[in-house]
Amino acid sequence: MESPFKENILKGKVALITGGASGIGFEISTQFGKHGASVALMGRRKQVLDSAVSVLQSLGIPAVGFAGDVRKQEDAARVVESTYKHFGKIDILVNAAAGNFLVAAEDLSPNGFRTVLDIDSVGTFTMCHEALKYLKKGGQGRTTSGGGTILNISATLHYTASWYQIHVSAAKAAVDSITRNLALEWGTDYDITVNGVAPGPIGDTPGMFKLDPEEINSKAREYMPLFKIGEKWDIAMAAIYLVSDAGKYVNGHTLVADGGLWLSRPRH
Ligand code: HXC
Repeated sequence: MESPFKENILKGKVALITGGASGIGFEISTQFGKHGASVALMGRRKQVLDSAVSVLQSLGIPAVGFAGDVRKQEDAARVVESTYKHFGKIDILVNAAAGNFLVAAEDLSPNGFRTVLDIDSVGTFTMCHEALKYLKKGGQGRTTSGGGTILNISATLHYTASWYQIHVSAAKAAVDSITRNLALEWGTDYDITVNGVAPGPIGDTPGMFKLDPEEINSKAREYMPLFKIGEKWDIAMAAIYLVSDAGKYVNGHTLVADGGLWLSRPRH
């Protein structure tokens, strides 16, 4: 689908995207690049990174990949520094790296719970923490903002409760909390804005079908009248809005992009 944004809306911006080589993260990398940004991708799997970077470069997008695990502080520090060295600044950090699997709480080991919190919540904080000194200097082109901007990819699972996702729900609740607290502290001190996007069910990612193949049937629609499958594109457009000048007055907010599903109720 054609973008409704001008193709230069992110011109001159440098974005570091964790989990940027696959799924929603890769769509964000691609769309940021198509709208003028240079992109650095961070991910654990070198092969996946390499092929994502080749695709971006074949589209004429300045792109580089750095292998690393957001759970390791030394990896986070190395990747933000490498991004800075490669592109000369960092304006935008997107935390899209996430871990997930379906399991009943009864069968989830504390280590399994911890693993997802380590990736999603601690990983997000670690990346923000390590990127701060660069983000302070970044984003000079933002109309009113002296600092850069952070975008955290969240979910809607924790607004109520969700089956077999206790670890992810807890992790994303923490992510939303990180979004608000950093927006307060770093917005005040450094003019850095921090926001989130909470995607609904996105059909064109392997994760969605791995997680919940049954949800797309008519039974789901009966219980969730607003159930509608989204596309990665929808999330990337929300991301562009929030990190561009269009979103410069939005801070500490997590934008739900799910077609209204999270508040859907069965018909009486
Ligand atoms: C139960 C599991 C499990 C499973 C792992 N564990 N997979 N428990 N069911 N399917 C437990 C292990 O037994 C272990 O605990 C602990 O978790 C750590 O497992 P490892 O395999 O050692 O971890 P690691 O190799 O680091 O892998 C991380 C991972 C992995 C999260 C577990 O599955 C992963 O990276 N998945 C891909 C990421 C992904 O799908 N991303 C898309 C996210 S989509 P013990 O006690 O045995 O040591 C998303 C959307 C959210 O986030 C919203 C959905 C609507």
